Amino acid sequence: MSGIVEIAKRSGVSPATVSRALRGMHHVNERTRKKIVEAAQALDYPIRPDLLPRNKGTRTNTIGVIAPFLSRWYFSQALAGVEQALREAGMDLLLYNFAQVDARQRVFQQKNLVGKVDGLIVISLPPTEKEFEQILGLGIPVALLGVPDSRCSCVSIDDIQGAEVITQHLVGMGHTEIAIMVGQNTYAYNFEVANQRRQGFLNVLERNGIKFNPAYEISADFDSHTSELAMDEFLSRKKLPTAIFCECDEMAFGVIKSLRKKGLRIPEDMSVVGYDNHDFAEIIGLTTISQPVQFLGQLAASQIMAKIEKPASNTSQMRVPTSMIIRNSVKTLT
Ligand code: GUN
Repeated sequence: MSGIVEIAKRSGVSPATVSRALRGMHHVNERTRKKIVEAAQALDYPIRPDLLPRNKGTRTNTIGVIAPFLSRWYFSQALAGVEQALREAGMDLLLYNFAQVDARQRVFQQKNLVGKVDGLIVISLPPTEKEFEQILGLGIPVALLGVPDSRCSCVSIDDIQGAEVITQHLVGMGHTEIAIMVGQNTYAYNFEVANQRRQGFLNVLERNGIKFNPAYEISADFDSHTSELAMDEFLSRKKLPTAIFCECDEMAFGVIKSLRKKGLRIPEDMSVVGYDNHDFAEIIGLTTISQPVQFLGQLAASQIMAKIEKPASNTSQMRVPTSMIIRNSVKTLT
C-alpha cells in the first residue's frame, strides 16, 4: 500500500500536511485537502469516509452488486431476486461482474465505488481482510449473500448442514461406497461453499463409521461441463462407488451425462444426488437440497434498504433453512 510520502509527492505538499489532512484536522486549506484526498484515492490509500468527495445527503438511488459468473444458475437466481426487490422499491442496480483475479481487485477498490452507490451487495464471495476494509470504509451499508459474517448484514444457508442431510439420506438408503464431486476452490473466488459441503459429507461418513476412500473424491468446477469430463475419467476405473454426492446440481447434470454415455443407469447402477434444487433438477428427477436463492437475493436487498432508511439500526445476520427434495435418483440397497 502507498504511504503518506508518496501522497505528499503526488500532491506537492509536505508529509505533515498530508497526515493532518487525512486525519480530518482543521487547519488545512480545503483545496489542498481535496488535492491530497484525490492523490490518496489514486494510490489506493484508505481514506475516512467523511473525507471522500461525496455530496452529503445526496442519494444515488442505486445499489451496487458484486458477482462473478452471471451465466451460472446460482448467480442469475440471486441477481434476479436482488433486482426484483430493488425494482419494486424504485431503486437501480449497478452490476460489478468480473471473471479474472485482477478484475476482482479492481471492483472492490473504494475509488471505483465511492459516490456511485448507496449500498453494496456481494454475492457468494467472502471478501478478504483488505477488501472488507475497503468496502466497510465506504461508510455505506454492505450485505453479503451466501456468506455469513458478523461485521455486516448477511443472508446465507447452512451449507454444512445441507450436505449432512443429503449424505445421511444416502447412508440411510444403505450406501457406504459414496463418491463426492467437489468444486475446486480457486484462489480468485475463494468460495466457502465447496469446503463446507465437503465437510458436511465427511462429518456424516465419520458419524456412521464409514471410512472415506480418497480415491472417491473427484474435483471439477461448479459446472456441468468440467464435471462431465472429470466423471468420464473417473468411470474408467475398475472399482466404482454405488452413489455420488455432487456439490451442486449443475455438477450432477454433468455426472449424469457421463454415466449415460457409459450406458450406466441412474439410480440402478449409480445413485446421484445434488445440491441447490436447480430448475432442471425436477425434470430429471434429481434428489437434492433445495435453497431459495431468489429469496436470498430479495432478503439481501431488503437488508440494505432497511439500513439506508435507518442507518443507526443493527445489521442483521440471517440464516435461511434448506430442505431435502427426494425424487428418484437414489436406489435403496439391501
Ligand atoms: N457458487 C457459490 N455459491 C454457490 C451455491 O450455493 N450454489 C452453486 N451452484 N454455486 C455457487
